[in-house]
Amino acid sequence: MTLTTTAVVAVAATLVAVTQAGSTPSPSPSPRPERPPYNGTGPTMLRFGCHQLVIDRIDPLVNPGAIPSPHQHQIVGGDAFNASMRLSDISASSSCTTCSYSDDFSNYWTSNLYFGARNGSYKRVPQIPNHTDWDGLDEFTPRTNGGLVAYYVSPGKSEVTAFKPGFRMFVGDAALRSAPQGRWNLSSQTCFRCYSGPDFGGDRLPPCWDPAVDTQHLPDRPCYGIRSNVVFPTCWDGKNLDSADHKSHVAYPVEGPHVFDGINTAKECPPSHPVKIPQVMVEIIYDTTVFNDPSEWPEDGSQPFVLSTGDRSGYSQHADYVFGWKGDALQRGMDAGCIAAHCPGLATQTVEEATRCKVRELVDEKYEGWLDTLPGDPPQPPVTASSALTPCPTTPRGKGNGKGKREGKGKAEGNGKG
Ligand SMILES: *[C@@H]1O[C@H](CO)[C@@H](O)[C@H](O)[C@H]1NC(C)=O
Ligand SMILES: *[C@@H]1O[C@H](CO)[C@@H](O)[C@H](O)[C@H]1NC(C)=O
Ligand SMILES: *[C@@H]1O[C@H](CO)[C@@H](O)[C@H](O)[C@H]1NC(C)=O
Ligand SMILES: *[C@@H]1O[C@H](CO)[C@@H](O)[C@H](O)[C@H]1NC(C)=O
Ligand SMILES: *[C@@H]1O[C@H](CO)[C@@H](O)[C@H](O)[C@H]1NC(C)=O
Repeated sequence: MTLTTTAVVAVAATLVAVTQAGSTPSPSPSPRPERPPYNGTGPTMLRFGCHQLVIDRIDPLVNPGAIPSPHQHQIVGGDAFNASMRLSDISASSSCTTCSYSDDFSNYWTSNLYFGARNGSYKRVPQIPNHTDWDGLDEFTPRTNGGLVAYYVSPGKSEVTAFKPGFRMFVGDAALRSAPQGRWNLSSQTCFRCYSGPDFGGDRLPPCWDPAVDTQHLPDRPCYGIRSNVVFPTCWDGKNLDSADHKSHVAYPVEGPHVFDGINTAKECPPSHPVKIPQVMVEIIYDTTVFNDPSEWPEDGSQPFVLSTGDRSGYSQHADYVFGWKGDALQRGMDAGCIAAHCPGLATQTVEEATRCKVRELVDEKYEGWLDTLPGDPPQPPVTASSALTPCPTTPRGKGNGKGKREGKGKAEGNGKG
C-alpha cells in the first residue's frame, strides 16, 4: 500500500523537530511539528495494535517454569507463549498471533494496573485502544481488545539489525519503588502520561517528552486516562540471544538512552554492544476515569492505582520481549522506509482474525471484578515520597461514577496496605 500525504502529515503532527537527539526530553519542548521522511527510503516506524493474548501469572523470562510467578502480566503476540520458552524460533511453534502484522509471533508483556479502593478492595483498570486510526489506514489499532500498541523504529535502510530467532530482552525493574539510581536517567524510557482532558487531552508530544503530562511515577492527580510507555535499549552485543539478567546483552547508546522520536535509535553504540537494533516500544492506555471519585481515593491524598507488582509508585513498570517475527520479515520492514500498520511486503490480518488467537490461562485465579488482594498478593511497601493529591483544574468525566458509595468511610487506612 502506498501511503498518502495525509497519513504522513497525521504522523508528523505527533512528532516535534528533533535537532539534538539527546538522552533527556527537551526542557521546553516545541509543539512545532516537522514532517519525517517516511517515504520508502528514509526511516521506518512500524506502529501496530496487538490484542490481549492472555492475562496470567507466569513469566517465562524472569521466573521460567513457575506456575504461578510472583506477579501478574498481560501478554500479547504469538500463541507459543508458555511458562517456559526455549531459545528457539517461536515463529515456527506459533500457529497464530494477536498482532496486526501477522508475521509477528513475538511475545510482549507488562504488568497490569489495578485500582485500590479506600475500603481495601482492588479492581483491574480497563484498557482502551489508542484512538488514532491514521486517517483510515489503520483499522486494527483503534479496535484493539486490551493488549498494547507495539512500535519498531529504524533510522533508515540497513541502519539496524533485526533480532535473531530466540532473542529476548527485559527492561525495567519489578522491585523498584523509587527513581532508579543507576548510570542513566531513564525518565525518557518509561513514563505514564496523565491525559489532561477528554479524548486524550494534552496528547501533543511523543511519549515521555512532555513534563506537563508525563512522569516516571504514576500520576499523583486524577487523569482522563493514563498511558504507560516502555522503551527498550537499542544496542546489542551481537552474540547472545539472552543473558542471566535478560538485560546485559543489550545496552544504551554511548550518548545515553534514546528518547522515542519515531525516527532515530542510537548515534553510537558502545564497543561492548556494537550492533544497532530496532528501537522497540510498547504502549498501553488505561481508562482510569471510572475511578476518579475522590471519596474512593486514599484519605491521605495519595493516588489509588497500583501495578500488579504491588507497586503504588509506578517505578516498577517493566516490559519483556521475546522476538518472533517470521523469517526476515522484521528486517524487511525496518529497511522499507514505511510507517505504522501497513508496510509494503509485510502481511497483515484483520482485527477479527487476530481475536481468535488465544492461549489458555495456566494459573486459575480470579482477576476481574472486585478483589480482596492483588493476584498473588505481592507485598506493597508504602510509597514514602510525597504523593499529595494535586487538585485537577477541571472535572474528569468519570468523576461521580462511583455513585457516592462510601463503604470505606471511617476505616480508611491510607496507602501501603498489604
Ligand atoms: C497514539 O499513538 C500516537 C502515535 O505514536 C501517539 O503519538 C499518540 O500519543 C497516541 N495516542 C494516545 C491517546 O495515546
Ligand atoms: C525521502 O526522504 C529522504 C530523507 O529526507 C530524502 O533524502 C529522499 O530524497 C526522499 N526520497 C523521496 C523519493 O522523496
Ligand atoms: C507449554 O508447555 C507445556 C510443558 O512443556 C506443554 O505441555 C504445552 O504443550 C505447552 N503449551 C504450548 C501452547 O506450547
Ligand atoms: C469496596 O469499594 C468498592 C467501591 O465502592 C465497592 O464496589 C466494593 O464492593 C467494596 N468492597 C467491599 C469488600 O466492601
Ligand atoms: C531525569 O530527567 C528528568 C527530565 O529532565 C528530570 O525531571 C528528573 O529529575 C531526572 N531524574 C533524575 C533521577 O535525575
